[in-house]
Amino acid sequence: MHWTGSLAIIAAAAITLGTGTLKAAAQESSSAASEKNWWRNAVFYEIYPRSFGDANNDGIGDLKGITAHLDYLKDLGVDAIWLTPIYPSPQVDFGYDIADYMAIDPQCGTMADFDRLMAEANKRHIRVLMDMVMNHSSDKHKWFLQSRSSKTNPYRDWYVWHDGKGETATDKGQPPNNWQSVFGGSAWEWDDKTRQYYYHKFYTQQPDLNWNNPKVRQAFKDIIAFWLKKGVAGFRFDAITTLFEDPNLADEGVVKDKNGNPEMRNGEPVLENVKTDNLPGVHDVMAEMRAESDKFSTDKYPGTRVFIGETYLPNIAELLKQYGTPEKPEFHLPMDTQLLLVNKMDATAFRAKLEDAESELGSNVPLFVFDNHDNPRIDARYGDGVHDTDIQRVISTVLFASKGAALFYQGDEIGMKTTPPAHKEDVKDPVGLRFWPEYKGRDGERTPMQWTPGPNAGFDSPTAKPWLPVPGNNSTINVQSEKADPKSLYSWYHSLIELKKNNAAFAQGADTMLDRNNKNVLSWKRQSPGVPPVIICANFTAEPQSVDLVSQGIPEGAITTLLKTPGGSDPSTLKHVNLGPFGVYIGQLQFMISH
Ligand code: NOJ
Ligand code: CA
Repeated sequence: MHWTGSLAIIAAAAITLGTGTLKAAAQESSSAASEKNWWRNAVFYEIYPRSFGDANNDGIGDLKGITAHLDYLKDLGVDAIWLTPIYPSPQVDFGYDIADYMAIDPQCGTMADFDRLMAEANKRHIRVLMDMVMNHSSDKHKWFLQSRSSKTNPYRDWYVWHDGKGETATDKGQPPNNWQSVFGGSAWEWDDKTRQYYYHKFYTQQPDLNWNNPKVRQAFKDIIAFWLKKGVAGFRFDAITTLFEDPNLADEGVVKDKNGNPEMRNGEPVLENVKTDNLPGVHDVMAEMRAESDKFSTDKYPGTRVFIGETYLPNIAELLKQYGTPEKPEFHLPMDTQLLLVNKMDATAFRAKLEDAESELGSNVPLFVFDNHDNPRIDARYGDGVHDTDIQRVISTVLFASKGAALFYQGDEIGMKTTPPAHKEDVKDPVGLRFWPEYKGRDGERTPMQWTPGPNAGFDSPTAKPWLPVPGNNSTINVQSEKADPKSLYSWYHSLIELKKNNAAFAQGADTMLDRNNKNVLSWKRQSPGVPPVIICANFTAEPQSVDLVSQGIPEGAITTLLKTPGGSDPSTLKHVNLGPFGVYIGQLQFMISH
């Protein structure tokens, strides 16, 4: 086909049909662009299904419980939900031990429930992302049952098996090396039947798959295709940096403390973690998976299928590699956990990480995140016990007012607090049992979503017994009360998300840090061509602060307040933007500036 000729035919047809057609064509192409780019400024919401909504009152959240709350998510402004694993699982690691990647755990519901959730989400323009756990399966997965059945079974090399050291006919000897499980103890488990050790980076019930085996790769391509055909909008790849291990099985080095002694955590030496994490083989795997995924697009669920990575990495340069290259793309959105790992209210450290994301990731889109089902919630990591809600306003401002996509965890928007179990016998997360009381596990950030002030917080019927107790603070921290209060944290999240979506500077503007030497206040500008810039100032301290924007090169002039902490003031001059303790001010200049 001749290009000029075909363009001429399209143009002629449009002229004959009149301006209606031209408008329709323009709309179509802008909607095609938005389908392609939907993820770039998107708001992602992490759902921990076990704790979101329990429709059948067995104390465990389920898919119908999620469907029942889709209107809430729509109203909040969420573009996409990521569901932590809902596949059949013995639930040792609450779903991260998967026994069948192409089905639904009966505790969560049925495939029909999933299809209904998809259809209802689609009606509300909410996309659904699945968790993809490729590093390991459950030890009850049929692949592993086969693998452990004999050394000659065709599935033997789907997992990582090795002889021990000094093994005899009667003695299992020692594990092949000193590698440790993330959840404590040796990462090697002896298997008596075939007299070898298998490797597990996580629980013993989560044997690592062997990613050097092409059959494993093909199996996951098929799994990815299965869910894409069901219309999912992408995946969050679990523990993705741990796919490969050093083939020489070299011991890990031991991290030393400042006195040169082994650094200890929970009674075990801390290892360097370079022989089993972030090995380069992961890049080829992800590029292959991405190429597979990019082939899929249906009329029913159009748009880019997005890859999010669970990417805890040592620095921004390593994060950059996870995006791949334009020719061989990997993740759309590997999580930028650099900011999450700051773990304290430190304006200087935040500024440095945000500047890194702005300058070191090229044209790639950052994905910021502060919270999830594995880390104590925001209150426990940033709060001071006095100003927690204001601190949560500061953190969420950084999340939604920075360039890129944003991911947050259910309950952040109402300020749910970390509530670890009070007694060892109440602990559900096995790692909490193992290390009690030094580390109480992850139950504290997994308590049921607090919908109402009533019994069981509306997560469950008042008479059910939720799998984890509802913290008593749901009398004030709950969706129902906070939605009705314009000064609540919920309302703050709602307003920020609205700005992210509807204000052009917010939606597309580049980030430029202002007042870069200020240790107390983080100030930045979002500037997008053709619209006046937005200025954001966030006080990281419990003391009142004032920022002089004029000294930062912003000409004196009018500013319109877009959002401010309750009780905060509108500046009468750009020389004094006054902020209360952990106060936030967001305003839009009423004039254009050139830089
Ligand atoms: C990360 C998940 O978020 C966590 O919950 C899980 O225990 C590990 N990966 C192992 O799958
Ligand atoms: Ca249930």
